Amino acid sequence: MAKDKVFIFDTTLRDGEQVPGCKLNTKEKLELALQLENLGVDIIEAGFPISSPGDFDSVSQIAKAIKNATVCGLSRAVQKDIETAAQALKDAAKPRIHTGIGTSDYHIKSKFNSTREDILQRAVQCVKWARNYTDDVEFYAEDAGRTDNDYLAKVVEAVIAAGATVVNIPDTTGYCLPYQYGEKIAYLVNNVPNIDKAVISCHCHNDLGLATANSITGVIAGARQIECTINGLGERAGNTSLEEVVMIIKQHKHLGYYTDIKTDQLNPMSRMVSDTMRMPVQPNKAIVGSNAFSHSSGIHQDGFLKNALTYEIINPEEVGADSSKIVLTARSGRSALAYRFQKLGFQFDRNDIDELYTHFLLVADRKKEVEDADLVSLAQQHQTTTATV
Ligand code: KIV
Ligand code: ZN
Repeated sequence: MAKDKVFIFDTTLRDGEQVPGCKLNTKEKLELALQLENLGVDIIEAGFPISSPGDFDSVSQIAKAIKNATVCGLSRAVQKDIETAAQALKDAAKPRIHTGIGTSDYHIKSKFNSTREDILQRAVQCVKWARNYTDDVEFYAEDAGRTDNDYLAKVVEAVIAAGATVVNIPDTTGYCLPYQYGEKIAYLVNNVPNIDKAVISCHCHNDLGLATANSITGVIAGARQIECTINGLGERAGNTSLEEVVMIIKQHKHLGYYTDIKTDQLNPMSRMVSDTMRMPVQPNKAIVGSNAFSHSSGIHQDGFLKNALTYEIINPEEVGADSSKIVLTARSGRSALAYRFQKLGFQFDRNDIDELYTHFLLVADRKKEVEDADLVSLAQQHQTTTATV
C-alpha cells in the first residue's frame, strides 16, 4: 500500500513556551530548534515575532540557523504582525507565516464584537498580506473545534482561494470528542471545493485528555499535518504530544501513514526539553515517562521475562529509552527476584529463591522499592546462613 506522509509541525517553541515558567531565552530556543531539526520535524514554529523583541530575535536566529526544516512564525490577522513575522523570517531557507483569526461565535461576538461576514473578510485579507512575503502561508481558524462546520467550510474555501497552502483547524479549547473532530475534518474534505489545494492541519489541545486521539482521528479523516509539542507541553493542559502521535503512526502501520521522525531520538529530545524548560515529565507519560518501560507487578514481570512482547508493545531502544526495568516492590514475584539476583551475579536455585522471597517481602513491605543494595545484603545473609547450616 502506498503510504501517505504526515507532516510533523512542532510548536514546542511557541505554544509550548506559552506555559508559565517555561519561557526560554534565545540561546535555549536556538539549541532546541537545532535538536528538533535533527529529530526530523518538518516545521518548527519558532515563536510569535510581534510578541516581544526577545521573541523576534529568537525567530530570526532560528530562521538563519535551520537549513532543512520549514521555520514558521505566528501572527494575528493584523498587518503589522504579519510584516514583523516576515521580517523575522527573512533569512529562513523555508519560511512559513502562520496567520489567522477566531471563527467560533464565542470569538466573533465576545472577542471581536463582530460578524461572521466581517471575520471572513479579515481572514482572506490576512492571507493576502502574508502571501506578499512567502508562498507558504498557513491559516488558523482559532476555536475551529467550536465553529459551525458550514461557516468554517466557507472560511476555509475563501482562505485557500486567497492563497493559504495549509489550513489549520485548531480545537483551541480541547472541547471536541474524537468522532466530532474527525467529522469536522471530513466535512471540510467533502464540502470545500478547493480543499485539494491545501494541506489540512490538526492542532488539538488536551483539556479533556483527547488531544492525541483527536489528532489521529483528524488524520484518518483526511488531515496530513499534526501540530504538536514535545512532552505535550502547551497552554493549560497542553497540546498534542509529538512522541505519542509519531509512535501511534509507527505502531499502526496498517493505517498507511508515516512520519520522518527519528524515533530513537524521542527520549533524549524529551529530556532536553524538560531540562531546558524546567518542566518535569510525569513518570507515567506515554513513550517518555520514567515508568513507560518499568514492570513492577509479579504477573506482568513473569510474563515480560518469558517474552517482552507480552507486556510491551514498543522496544525501548526504538524510542531511545533506557532498557526495560524490572522494579521490585511488595507486588513482585519470584521470577523477578531471581532475575534481579542473576543480574547482580548471584545464582540461586528454586529453594533458595523460595527462602529469599520470604525475607524479600519483609523488606518490600517496609520500603516502596527494593534496591540492589537491599538485594546484595539479603543474598549475603542467605549465603552466611546456608554456609553455617
Ligand atoms: O490553539 C490555537 O488555536 C492556537 C492558534 C494560535 C494556532 O494555538
Ligand atoms: Zn494552540
